[in-house]
Amino acid sequence: MQTQITPSPDLASGKWTTVDPIEACRLALHKKPFAARHPLAGHPLFTIDALIPVAEEAAKRRGDLYADVGDLTITDKWGTTPEPTMPIPKIIDRIETAGAWIVMKHVEVDPRYKAVLDDYADFVRGIAGPEGAKLLRNPEMLVFITSPNRITPFHFDAEVNFLVQLQGSKDLWVCDPSDRSITTEEEIERYYGVSITAGTYKPHAEERATKFSLGPGDAVHIPTHAGHWVKNHDNISVSLSLNMEFPNWMQADVHRANHYLRRLGLSPRPPGRSILVDKSKAAVIDAMRTAKRLVRR
Ligand SMILES: [Fe+2]
Repeated sequence: MQTQITPSPDLASGKWTTVDPIEACRLALHKKPFAARHPLAGHPLFTIDALIPVAEEAAKRRGDLYADVGDLTITDKWGTTPEPTMPIPKIIDRIETAGAWIVMKHVEVDPRYKAVLDDYADFVRGIAGPEGAKLLRNPEMLVFITSPNRITPFHFDAEVNFLVQLQGSKDLWVCDPSDRSITTEEEIERYYGVSITAGTYKPHAEERATKFSLGPGDAVHIPTHAGHWVKNHDNISVSLSLNMEFPNWMQADVHRANHYLRRLGLSPRPPGRSILVDKSKAAVIDAMRTAKRLVRR
């Protein structure tokens, strides 16, 4: 296991910055995790008090608030603990002892948070460069409030992601997204075709992972499909997951098509080997989606 300790944040600049030179980060974007620094620690929009009404608003939107309570290990899956019966503001009020993980999605519907997200998106597009930036779309902000010592189990995500630490500290382990012994092709296909909890922890993941220790002002880029997990230190944590997406034809619909092909007993080619084949598979999935919509009308 490689350990990377990020330097203490320089909040005076008020800007997002990469720790390594931007050219190195451009080469690493989507491929390897890397550290960044951000100006959001101590920002008044992200105090616990400011986030209670944000959670209440998220609860009104279908699917935009998730909370679980309990002791999880890195091998557990989301949705396996009982849903909390306590109202969210009360859980936040008792976050010190609740053993909780609270997730608010699409916080950018509030224009004050959207302005923060826009700054982030400019930063990532700057790293991606003019050509790469054209592929990045749909910036999204998720806010996490986490109880002391809580673990976020092993999983991988579809988005181009930065985990952004605002309050408290934690450890983050990130695996190589191209290591198919950690994130298998079948798991990626099932992620898009069946369940976002398709990723399963493998015993050798920790020795292959890069470990980051994050405090306020630190951020880490987690590439798409990179297996990762988090252990909060003995403190309340407030952090953000800031995401952007690729076009469907680049991955999501190709993996979905491969999921169906594998169910037919075939061994489909992973995406990225032929743009023509990838676009054809994505077109089939898109046509199926359109047909389903028409049938429902
Ligand atoms: Fe994640």
